[in-house]
Amino acid sequence: VAADNAYRPKIHFSPAAHWINDPNGMVYVNGVYHLFFQYHPYSSVWGPMHWGHATSKDLIRWQEEPIALYPDSLGYIFSGSAVVDVNNSSGFGKNGKAPLVAVFTHHNSRTEKERIDFQTQSIAYSNDNGKTWTKYDGNPVIKNPGIADFRDPKVMWHTATQKWIMTLATKDCVTFYSSPDLKNWTKESTFGKENGAHGGVWECPDLIEMEFEGKKVWVLLVSINPGAPNGGSATQYFIGDFDGHTFTTKQKDTRWIDYGPDNYAGVTWSNTGKRKLFIGWMSNWNYANQLPTQSWRNAMTIARELHLAKEGNELYLASLPVGELTKYETQQASLKNITIDERAAVIAKIGILHFPSGFNLTTTADADFTIRFYNKATGEELKIGYDKKANNYFIDRSRSGIVNFHSGFTAKHTVPRISTSKEIKLRLLFDASSVELFADNGLSVMTALFFPTEKYTHVELLSATKAIVKEVAYFTYKQAK
Ligand code: FRU
Repeated sequence: VAADNAYRPKIHFSPAAHWINDPNGMVYVNGVYHLFFQYHPYSSVWGPMHWGHATSKDLIRWQEEPIALYPDSLGYIFSGSAVVDVNNSSGFGKNGKAPLVAVFTHHNSRTEKERIDFQTQSIAYSNDNGKTWTKYDGNPVIKNPGIADFRDPKVMWHTATQKWIMTLATKDCVTFYSSPDLKNWTKESTFGKENGAHGGVWECPDLIEMEFEGKKVWVLLVSINPGAPNGGSATQYFIGDFDGHTFTTKQKDTRWIDYGPDNYAGVTWSNTGKRKLFIGWMSNWNYANQLPTQSWRNAMTIARELHLAKEGNELYLASLPVGELTKYETQQASLKNITIDERAAVIAKIGILHFPSGFNLTTTADADFTIRFYNKATGEELKIGYDKKANNYFIDRSRSGIVNFHSGFTAKHTVPRISTSKEIKLRLLFDASSVELFADNGLSVMTALFFPTEKYTHVELLSATKAIVKEVAYFTYKQAK
């Protein structure tokens, strides 16, 4: 189908065919980034979940690999993580080589109608760098204690206690477990019943050890569906402390790693040292099954590097596209000191828009502005900008093209501006059917899909009040294939 090709991203991972959701088991081994994912190999809607597999040397150019994990008598293979078992604590290693161990949820669809204990945690190992996997014959390693939503184990090595820590989504909170060997798990504590957003069930957590000005900071990601700030599914985070047993936080407000409608279930790679690398599913459970592609459905966000940033007395989690992306980038134009009151002459200078492309915009935070991407022939448009009065950034896709497949798709989405800097720096990354907005060095982030019937061909800058834009730089990206 023509639309399937037109909407297929060029610098983001998408499956050659059929359905994907959450990124799973991300681990870095011998110079290769592994990305597993929730995959239905026989259909473009959600169904019996497998772990699909892709690899990359630079987090941008992905190569799809054979399916890694198939459903079995214990159920479908739901989300989870993977680690390098450096000390061979599991005993799965062979010939002195550290095994990879995947930890995932078995979802038993046969018992789910009449029982509550249909989700359990299991493990599998690989002795050939993630190519092939063997499921442990002692599965499941954690039985269900009577919680219907009991899934998405994310495992990390906790140095101070010399134990593996698993963070598991358990309905309306996360539960931490510890283990010496990835097989025997002990419950440590729960976190979250009284914290954060609770508009939906908690899923896909990730406990991340970070550093700020030489001090250890622990960040907990938790995806929730529904209950997102712009509807449907999104990922919140908590800044706090973890001592190997419990997670504590002083954070009072609810915060989101990405306020946009289309970034869900994202977690970080393991085995990347101090570099914290994140990728999310670039979709939303509200309409993921109805997106206007047929042969393939859903893609991943651009891989992002996480960092902490201070604003006032508060620490925030910020994210930016990985530096590896610049290898694909060519600057096409840089326009300086543009005064806009009505429609400025930015159109002619940039010329016809190409995808994938990027825009870096630098301007003062004292005036509204809108960047409008549009197609003259169809009138379809995507508006992105800053609303000074509301102090937020927005992406308005209400007239962006095909929008009628779900009522929640047609909207103007917003993200609060957290930075108090006098200067706004906005970075936009466009692919065939997505835009990712990174404002103020990744403090305010928003990802949104769009499906124009014809490509947008033009861009213009608008402002209701007079604004002087310091610089607009325009980049194109070569296809990562
Ligand atoms: C999140 C999620 C996970 C689950 C998986 C099933 O998007 O619902 O909680 O493991 O998708 O595909």
